[in-house]
Amino acid sequence: MNAQATYNYKVVRQFTVMTIVWGIVGMLVGVLIAAELVWPQLSMNLPWLQFGRLRPLHTNAVIFAFGGSALFATSYYVVQRTCQTRLFGDKLAAFTFWGWTTVIVLAAITLPLGITTSKEYAELEWPIDLLITVVWVAYAIVFFGTIVKRRVKHIYVANWFYGAFILTVAVLHIVNSAELPVSMTKSYSVYPGAIDAMVQWWYGHNAVGFFLTAGFLGMMYYFVPKQAGRPVYSYRLSVVHFWALISTYMWAGPHHLHYTALPAWAQSLGMVFSLILLAPSWGGMINGIMTLSGAWHKLRTDPILKFLIVSLSFYGMSTFEGPMMSIKTVNALSHYTDWTIGHVHSGALGWVAMVSIGAVYFLIPRLFGREQMYSIRLIDWHFWMSTIGVVLYIVAMWIAGVMQGLMWRAVNDDGTLTYSFVESVQAMHPFYFVRFLGGALFLVGMLLMAYNVLKTVSGARPVDAPIAQTA
Ligand code: HEM
Ligand code: HEM
Repeated sequence: MNAQATYNYKVVRQFTVMTIVWGIVGMLVGVLIAAELVWPQLSMNLPWLQFGRLRPLHTNAVIFAFGGSALFATSYYVVQRTCQTRLFGDKLAAFTFWGWTTVIVLAAITLPLGITTSKEYAELEWPIDLLITVVWVAYAIVFFGTIVKRRVKHIYVANWFYGAFILTVAVLHIVNSAELPVSMTKSYSVYPGAIDAMVQWWYGHNAVGFFLTAGFLGMMYYFVPKQAGRPVYSYRLSVVHFWALISTYMWAGPHHLHYTALPAWAQSLGMVFSLILLAPSWGGMINGIMTLSGAWHKLRTDPILKFLIVSLSFYGMSTFEGPMMSIKTVNALSHYTDWTIGHVHSGALGWVAMVSIGAVYFLIPRLFGREQMYSIRLIDWHFWMSTIGVVLYIVAMWIAGVMQGLMWRAVNDDGTLTYSFVESVQAMHPFYFVRFLGGALFLVGMLLMAYNVLKTVSGARPVDAPIAQTA
């Protein structure tokens, strides 16, 4: 068959398989650092096994390697299918895969060595930053090039979300990575003091908003209707959802800097926009869940749909919790505590990981010419392990976080502190253990997925589907 008459599934396959691999690696490091918080001696006094070095390795691996691969894979799949044309630039697309993989490998080497800018979620040093920029520009050319050569007039809403994610991440990365190199492995931010903090959290929050949310909403708008076999509940709402979400997210960053040197008006602005953000977030969640109208019964038998719909419930939960935590008086209690960590993982594991897992199960049989996954029962097992794992994780962190906040602020009649800091650390021990169990359960679920995928693809031949008249 002529290559032009098929979709480019090769790059989708590569990124899909790496989503599973990086998911396992990133979560394994997550479980390891969770274990180190229960049993600190696990680091064996080796510098590269210390919590402080492995924590950024975990965040980079799960966000950029696991989440990033899931976004590359699904955006390349969705944009081709919905535009009914082959991906623009086969070679450039292949370059994005190898370039992104190189970035990840460099991160995995430099972070344990302690080479870091120390800006959260932007730790990688300047040579790697440059490579990221080149790969990202190539990604934008492939994605928007495909939109330009589309064979249908309409640009499906999922592509709007993916497109916004790609453009915004480019701007965020370039602005926040402005730094002065002093050697190959060290640079300093060009921004001074409070401005540096503000730029960093404008970046940090929009990394959440666009990397961990907008792109995954694009995924949701394609895979939920597909798996449910129903059109999006309200297409009009999806368009309102898009514009409302992207115009609000940009302003919410200062909620990460409450009670700091940032001007008070900027903090209040961040709080107000975070509260407004509840509306578009819930609009999107409701639109996704209601897509199941008339097909609710499928939830009983289809574990892939369960992953997708439960991920939306976690999305709803974390986007309710986030605005509440942005209220300054609530943040006075939650900030610096494990409540934040609980919030992060209800979004990251409950929403980001579960929607990606659903999409991977959807994709694997289609990319390898199989009718369906090797075992549906194993997917069901995976679903329950993930759900119970997330719940254990976040409930433990809620209790731990609120307890920490209350212990830190408790004062005796004479004004002295009721608890020393060490007492609050000791009180966390059982909750850190429960978090470790929850994380380990989630990780075992991922291993089940790897087994199921191996069984599905073994003996199968990669398939590049012919360009179809349907998405
Ligand atoms: C098996 C699953 C996972 C486990 C056991 C785990 C565990 C952890 C631990 C122990 C921390 C450090 C908490 C602290 O500093 O007190 C952490 C931080 C973090 N994790 Fe995970 N994690 C998992 C999965 C994920 C996934 C899938 C994502 C993202 C998609 C993610 C994103 C993050 C982020 C962003 C932070 C930093 C939070 C902050 O600075 O407030 N994690 N994780
Ligand atoms: C309406 C939406 C949301 C709002 C208003 C919001 C708000 C907040 C607030 C107030 C904090 C605590 C800041 C602090 O005290 O330091 C926070 C932390 C965080 N949130 Fe959200 N959140 C939202 C949704 C999400 C989602 C869906 C995710 C993940 C997919 C997420 C990931 C994070 C991360 C990673 C942090 C920790 C940042 C850090 O300190 O390292 N958030 N969020």
